[in-house]
Amino acid sequence: MKYKDKNVTIGEVVVEVPEVTEVFKEFRIDFCCGGHRNLASVIEEQKIDGAALFERLDKLYENRKASYENKESQFDQMSPQVLVTYIEDTHHEYLRRVLPETAGLLTTILRVHGKNHQELFDMYRIYGQLKADLEQHLLKEETMLFPDFNEIDNNEQEIIDLTKMIMSEHEAAGELLEKLRTISGNYHLPEDACKTFAKTYQLLEDIEDDLHQHIHLENNILLKNYRKRETLFKSNEILN
Ligand SMILES: [Fe+2]
Ligand SMILES: [Fe+2]
Repeated sequence: MKYKDKNVTIGEVVVEVPEVTEVFKEFRIDFCCGGHRNLASVIEEQKIDGAALFERLDKLYENRKASYENKESQFDQMSPQVLVTYIEDTHHEYLRRVLPETAGLLTTILRVHGKNHQELFDMYRIYGQLKADLEQHLLKEETMLFPDFNEIDNNEQEIIDLTKMIMSEHEAAGELLEKLRTISGNYHLPEDACKTFAKTYQLLEDIEDDLHQHIHLENNILLKNYRKRETLFKSNEILN
């Protein structure tokens, strides 16, 4: 849908199409502190040429969509070995860097704001679980699942069992992310939030985004053939 037909805030547009900030700067639209404002009302208040602005926004949106679709088809065409290397170099590397950093920040804001924002205690506990789960999960993939893609004579049943375990861990991680989002009220910053608070929420949202893409690549592209094989394997088992 075109932006002009949507009832969106400035912040929502930036999340969808991050490169839009350049256009907002040009039209003198405040996307930082004013990110919560409705785009249509800002256009009216600041007497902005709406048609010109929407044309630019829609173009950026279309470009982003096209490049996303292009990238998706590239992933689909990658060999499992190449895709595994890509996942390790981008998503695993990212998590190893950002998980401890976020844990440190969360401890800091818990110490400073925990008394007034007790939901942070729950967030701390759930994030701790997510971090520990993911750290062992990455190792499980790197030492058990991924090497299987290089072996020709691997045990089919073993891979199927491992795939199931990996996918159920993905689901568990997704549920923890969902809990964090709910407890934080969609990462809505309280009035008294300091810069560290904002940075922590930003990192948590980035982790969520990255993890969604990471899990999508593993579940829907890397493991999809195994899932097909599982169905085949099962039907053969029944026939035998
Ligand atoms: Fe992974
Ligand atoms: Fe995974």
